[in-house]
Amino acid sequence: MLGSDVVPQLFFLILTLTLPFSAAYHVGVNYGTVANNLPPPHQVVNFIKTKTNINHVKIFDTNPDILAAFSGSTEISLTVTIPNSDILSLSKLPNARSWLSNHLLPFLPTTSISYIAVGNEVIATSDKTLITHLLPAMESLTLALHLANVTGILVSTPHSLGILSGSSEPPSSGKFRNGYDKAIFTPILDFHNRTKSPFMVNPYPYFGSGPETLNYALFNSNDYVFVDPVTKMNYTNMFDAQLDAVYSAMKRIGYGDVDIVVAETGWPSAGEPNQTGVGLDYAAAYNGNLIKHVNSGKGTPLMPNRVFETYIFSLFNENLKSSVSEQNFGLFKPDFTQVYDVGIMKTNKV
Ligand SMILES: *[C@@H]1O[C@H](CO)[C@@H](O)[C@H](O)[C@H]1NC(C)=O
Ligand SMILES: *[C@@H]1O[C@H](CO)[C@@H](O)[C@H](O)[C@H]1NC(C)=O
Ligand SMILES: *[C@@H]1O[C@H](CO)[C@@H](O)[C@H](O)[C@H]1NC(C)=O
Ligand SMILES: *[C@@H]1O[C@H](CO)[C@@H](O)[C@H](O)[C@H]1NC(C)=O
Repeated sequence: MLGSDVVPQLFFLILTLTLPFSAAYHVGVNYGTVANNLPPPHQVVNFIKTKTNINHVKIFDTNPDILAAFSGSTEISLTVTIPNSDILSLSKLPNARSWLSNHLLPFLPTTSISYIAVGNEVIATSDKTLITHLLPAMESLTLALHLANVTGILVSTPHSLGILSGSSEPPSSGKFRNGYDKAIFTPILDFHNRTKSPFMVNPYPYFGSGPETLNYALFNSNDYVFVDPVTKMNYTNMFDAQLDAVYSAMKRIGYGDVDIVVAETGWPSAGEPNQTGVGLDYAAAYNGNLIKHVNSGKGTPLMPNRVFETYIFSLFNENLKSSVSEQNFGLFKPDFTQVYDVGIMKTNKV
């Protein structure tokens, strides 16, 4: 794909060879557990540590067995998630303090936790009570961490791209949904700016693509595919376009400098027989190209050279998810064999 770009390719090679590997590795995984056939957490941790280059893991809960399994593996940083159903209660400081004491403090500092994700895609629920308590819960948890003298854990919440209004093309036109920008996102982004925590988003080119944009979604376009008429920037992949639409929305209300973390993205390796653009080759192309793109450090057209810590969804195929495609987002099968190769194993360095 980079065939004609010999110079950047050489530069990337030199960079990768001279920097410690971890310094150039920004890709993590979501370790989801909606399955009845997964190996026990200690085997999973041992596998991640000894066999893969993965150094960031996100989980969808604060399962104590998983937190205990990561004890002593401080080279892997964890993001834990608070279920949406706890947000209301955690908006009160005393509840946030006892939640912290019960769920996380017992595992610190031997388990390395970098982020607490407060809920998942809360805005997409359209539940007004939940949405109005989201930021108060993030504030309470931040204060609870401070009162417990815990440093190094930042609080955030992952958003679906449904937070943007209408079409996110061109990327420069990205803005938050009407009525949500000032009321919801200005205070949330002000919180991120104050606490130096990242804005988390879940972009899925898989859901945004059709037959004509499949190669664009898979990072397989050789030439420019889309020119933003306002900025004149060339987009060769949908991932960059989606991130730049988010960036434009943030910048429009004054917070273009807040870090972005890609909390989920991925592509299924199997689906219903009538689904197009789903399969092993597509999933391998998306995730393989994504990893190269993120680790290249080149950023996006509107955010050159910015690095986005990116969590692939997901670590395992999860057999209790509700549809065939949802069951097949995993990089690995429950027996630890690769569903397809994306160069994430230790033996595949460079
Ligand atoms: C936090 O640190 C302060 C100052 O060192 C100390 O007075 C306080 O007891 C500590 N609190 C906890 C919960 O450890
Ligand atoms: C975008 O691509 C066109 C056509 O290849 C090229 O002329 C233009 O300079 C490119 N723009 C940028 C900003 O790279
Ligand atoms: C973000 O925080 C910086 C200080 O770190 C401050 O200078 C800046 O004004 C803040 N941005 C907004 C939009 O409040
Ligand atoms: C695809 O097949 C499933 C059943 O396997 C069906 O529920 C769905 O409506 C079909 N979708 C299309 C677009 O034909």
